[in-house]
Amino acid sequence: MSGYDRVIDSMFGKSIFKSESTLFPEFVPPELPTRDREITRLVKNFRSLLGKEGSFSVNVAIVGQPGIGKTALCKYTMKHFAEAASSRNINVKFLYYNCHSFRSKTAILRNILSEHFRIQSRGFSDEEILDMLVKRLSREDMRLIIALDEANMLNSDDILSIFHAGEYFGSEQSLISTIIISRPIEWRSLLNVPLSGHIHDQLDVPGYTRDQILEILEYRANLALVPTSYSDDTLNLIADISAPSQNARLGLEILYRGGKNADLKLESFISAEYIRAAKADVYPELRRDVLEELRVQELLSIMGVARKLKAEGSTSTTIDESYEDYLLSCEEYEIESRGKSTFRAAIETLHKVGMLGKSVGPIAQGKRGRRAQITILDIPVSVLLERIETILKKKIGENNLD
Ligand SMILES: Nc1ncnc2c1ncn2[C@@H]1O[C@H](COP(=O)(O)OP(=O)(O)OP(=O)(O)O)[C@@H](O)[C@H]1O
Ligand SMILES: [Mg+2]
Repeated sequence: MSGYDRVIDSMFGKSIFKSESTLFPEFVPPELPTRDREITRLVKNFRSLLGKEGSFSVNVAIVGQPGIGKTALCKYTMKHFAEAASSRNINVKFLYYNCHSFRSKTAILRNILSEHFRIQSRGFSDEEILDMLVKRLSREDMRLIIALDEANMLNSDDILSIFHAGEYFGSEQSLISTIIISRPIEWRSLLNVPLSGHIHDQLDVPGYTRDQILEILEYRANLALVPTSYSDDTLNLIADISAPSQNARLGLEILYRGGKNADLKLESFISAEYIRAAKADVYPELRRDVLEELRVQELLSIMGVARKLKAEGSTSTTIDESYEDYLLSCEEYEIESRGKSTFRAAIETLHKVGMLGKSVGPIAQGKRGRRAQITILDIPVSVLLERIETILKKKIGENNLD
């Protein structure tokens, strides 16, 4: 095959994917099998927004372990909720924010105003911005539902003041409702008495059983793959692998990677071998969506930590030690390095988004105080480095340097 033929063949030749993008992490499927109960409960919580005689603001928390469809449940349900409301001439707007990329109340409020209401809010305080927003909603008779995903990136006070904004005109005319999404441990650390007093309902979403994971895999495989490219055995094997974690993301990633590997080898069937190989290659705790939201300086910081650990063959390091490797990484990628306090702040963020762990190390001899030890996720350093490099190069290529 000539080089040209190879290009044409890869572009238009056979693939076992009929719609690869339906397995991308950000894709929200047209149906959510096995989540009927949660969808109903979420919708019922927001029924009061539909009342003619004035709506009430509602704050709901969706809490559950990784990969069990919290984000999908929220996006799917509220998209349909807003559509159905608008078909009955009730003006409901649903806005979704992932707090990994919008990390403060101010960032979220400014984005709401500029992106969705075309109001420039530079120079105004948060209170003034909220005031403008509430007035605008009131004028347009619009109810706003804001989803704050990965809400632990904000602090309780920020979330509280968004709740308070919802109650601006008293409970008769409440125009802002919220959905807070979080994993259980983070949720517990966020929740305090004032906050819990404003949460009307908390959906504790359970993990998936093996059979539920199988049902989800059947549905998603049918959307993404040519029917002859897999069998019941293929999906059952993936369901067995994913069942202990109760995590649908794990199953879908294995399916995707298994499919990709088969496709690259120009195979027309995803045999068990491809699934087993994919299993060894998938690290559900290393989330691609989280990595992609990281800023270039944060990627370089985690790279510094990972390189330090790799060079030393150790499991933990310190700010001082890894800062050196961070500087080298910046030099290599020709990105201006930052001072140690910025590096420390980046490490803090990486810890918060779950990309780095922290522990307090033993007191070194002759030194005072304990030094915080930095650790990475329980995955091979080389895998982490490879994924960081891919995203870093992509960002630098796009000149996405902030
Ligand atoms: N019931 C379902 N039907 C079809 N696909 C699903 C279902 N539940 C989850 N998924 C898919 O599984 C993957 C993980 O779901 P999602 O991202 O919503 O999990 P999450 O609970 O938000 O996890 P995290 O805490 O890590 O953010 C997504 O690709 C989602 O589309
Ligand atoms: Mg999520």
